[in-house]
Amino acid sequence: MKKNLRKILVAAVAAAMLLTLVAACGGGGTGGGGSSGTTIGISLPTMSLQRWVQDGDNMKEQFEAAGFNVDLQYGGENDVATQISQIENMISAGVDVLVICAIDGFSLTEVLATAKANNIPVIAYDRLIMNTDAVTYYATFDNWKVGTLQGTFLENALNLKSQSDEVFNIEFFTGDPGDNNIHFFFGGAMEVLQPYLDSGKLQCLSGQTDIMQVATVDWNPANAQARMENLIASVGYGPQHDLGIISTPLNAVMCSNDSTAQGVTQALLGAGFDADTFPYITGQDCDIVSVRNMLAGHQSMSVFKDTRTLAANVVAMVKAIVGGTTVPINDTTSYDNNVHVVPTHLSDPVFADINNWEALLIDTGYYTMDQITG
Ligand code: BGC
Repeated sequence: MKKNLRKILVAAVAAAMLLTLVAACGGGGTGGGGSSGTTIGISLPTMSLQRWVQDGDNMKEQFEAAGFNVDLQYGGENDVATQISQIENMISAGVDVLVICAIDGFSLTEVLATAKANNIPVIAYDRLIMNTDAVTYYATFDNWKVGTLQGTFLENALNLKSQSDEVFNIEFFTGDPGDNNIHFFFGGAMEVLQPYLDSGKLQCLSGQTDIMQVATVDWNPANAQARMENLIASVGYGPQHDLGIISTPLNAVMCSNDSTAQGVTQALLGAGFDADTFPYITGQDCDIVSVRNMLAGHQSMSVFKDTRTLAANVVAMVKAIVGGTTVPINDTTSYDNNVHVVPTHLSDPVFADINNWEALLIDTGYYTMDQITG
């Protein structure tokens, strides 16, 4: 009898231990690491840009499927103070891990010092957080490659390698000065295009080729539109219709992403450009509006960054952090935030245009055809 009781007790304790272990490893999850008691605080820049809504939805879904609790917040309309106070609140509420896409990568030093003091690991999401030792890991796409995809597209579209005397006019648009990514996007594109500016094969008639001159505050389409309208007025760019109106040709606009491309597109439509006379315009994100613009002949390419993949990488990183196993990273040299080189997981961005958008976006279930044809 006593023996049996002991057996039952041993079995009960073993079962309880197993349950604890399962809970700690994310019993409801897809392979360990998660925990029903573990809360992930996710702070994203804004709901006004489609991509962050997708990123948020994907992360929430995947974290919850892995058994984590999620506190997902957006920083209003790219409002830095809102983002900081949301992160402060998450820290006080006792989140276990923070996943942050910074509105301004230079403004989180103080709040993240508090995270560090509370032993909360921080994953910088998509954008590197600068000037802090509190960022534990970084998950993003290969942002330099995004830029080289855009630059190489323009190099091929304008056949810049050819020996002909033809000279092409180009203007440049990148994103918010507080977003560290712009140095990678713009740097990658310029790696390809600068030699042609130097040789005179490409000319930028506004003279605005410095990253800070071509930055777009908040990546806001309206700001890009206003700057393009100014360039149209000051340089005299216009569609090359055979109507005897003399205007300056514009052959290409290097835009670092879709929201800036959309602003530029609006300005050009307003100035009378149409599908036949549009310059080559680059983009990134495969926003629904930009896919439509590509189909209308108003945007030439985009770069597909599958936010489902990025979310899956971040979930894998968090599982490893929580489970104490090796965190999946594949870059330990490129992302120096001025305090330390942050161990990073890079995903691959993919070139997209009217020839492959359907395979990339519809066949993989990223969008439904209805969302595009609306
Ligand atoms: C992201 C881009 C996005 C841009 C504007 C960048 O940091 O990497 O995908 O288009 O922010 O939100």
